[in-house]
Amino acid sequence: MEKFIDQCEDFPRELIRWYSSNRRNLPWRDTNDPYKIWLSEIILQQTRVAQGMDYYNKFVSKYPKVNDLAAATEEEVLKDWQGLGYYSRARNLHHSAKMIVEEHSGEFPDEYNSIIKLKGVGEYTAAAIASFAFNQDYAVLDGNVFRLLSRFFGIKTPIDSTQGKKEFSKLAQSLVPKDDAATYNQAIMEFGALQCTPVNPDCSSCPLQSKCFAYEHDIIKDLPLKEKKVKVQDRFLNYLIIQSSDQLLLNKRTQEGIWKNLFDFPLIESSSSLKYLELEKNKDFISIFKETDFSLEAESDERKHLLSHRRLYCKFYHFKVDEFSTDLLSKYRAVPVSELPQYPVPKLIENYLGEETNLLSLFK
Ligand code: ADE
Repeated sequence: MEKFIDQCEDFPRELIRWYSSNRRNLPWRDTNDPYKIWLSEIILQQTRVAQGMDYYNKFVSKYPKVNDLAAATEEEVLKDWQGLGYYSRARNLHHSAKMIVEEHSGEFPDEYNSIIKLKGVGEYTAAAIASFAFNQDYAVLDGNVFRLLSRFFGIKTPIDSTQGKKEFSKLAQSLVPKDDAATYNQAIMEFGALQCTPVNPDCSSCPLQSKCFAYEHDIIKDLPLKEKKVKVQDRFLNYLIIQSSDQLLLNKRTQEGIWKNLFDFPLIESSSSLKYLELEKNKDFISIFKETDFSLEAESDERKHLLSHRRLYCKFYHFKVDEFSTDLLSKYRAVPVSELPQYPVPKLIENYLGEETNLLSLFK
């Protein structure tokens, strides 16, 4: 880090000074309760502050202590998480709450090395909890910090490479001021979020401008560097909403994956967009209806739903049957339409159910 010595000198002090007059008042900054800080950090992984806030407030008031969260069912926690996405966060949160109760007598672990053993807690989150709650000297390294360090110090090593992780992590750790890790970590992340933004940062108002390598060399737009492009995969989902009198069939997704333990409808995945006449010939479709007479009541337009690594193309078909076959009932759960809102479902299903003109209006 020798080559950065000159730039390093004022860096933490400048950030803390900037933070004291530019920080947002966020509820998780008013506490040093490690449980609440953990909740906020898990919620804020892959989620914007504005959206995370409502969920944080809901979780803190419904589950004020780790014991309350541990005592809930996973289904209830998933339901409360609904709409935030990345549901493994909620499953891990619940799992870890139970671990804390069972293995730590309900006391949140107070050492980085035990905090990082919690499921769903990686290096960033462990450093955030250890510093915010216990003021331990661990540097946080999230997207905001990578971006700021890469620009300010002019580091061109890709941030998603092994070498990059090592280099940035060593530099980040060397910058943490002794005894003030909590404020410094909040400050550097806030600075990345508000000042040194990914697109169009306002360099003219930046207090670090005069020492910023990227500003001086006009390469703000080029940093940080990444070596891998995120590959986005197309998936085609054909959902069958199968109704008998006032009930319909739900599918509990027990297989591993982003929607594990959420509910959706019987699903046929295809390798491309299908018309109904093609869907009818699909072997899974034939197998679902093999013992059942059905009528197609309606079909939705194809709708696109974007996730970080997927583009989902999704269609809903609404069928009526006289009764559910035993085969269908062995695979799916018959649920009264009025009870649907109790089930945790993926966002795209929630969106669909929330539309006034969705096919379920046919039930009325
Ligand atoms: N994103 C992740 N952690 C955060 C925090 N503590 N404050 C603001 N944004 C965050």
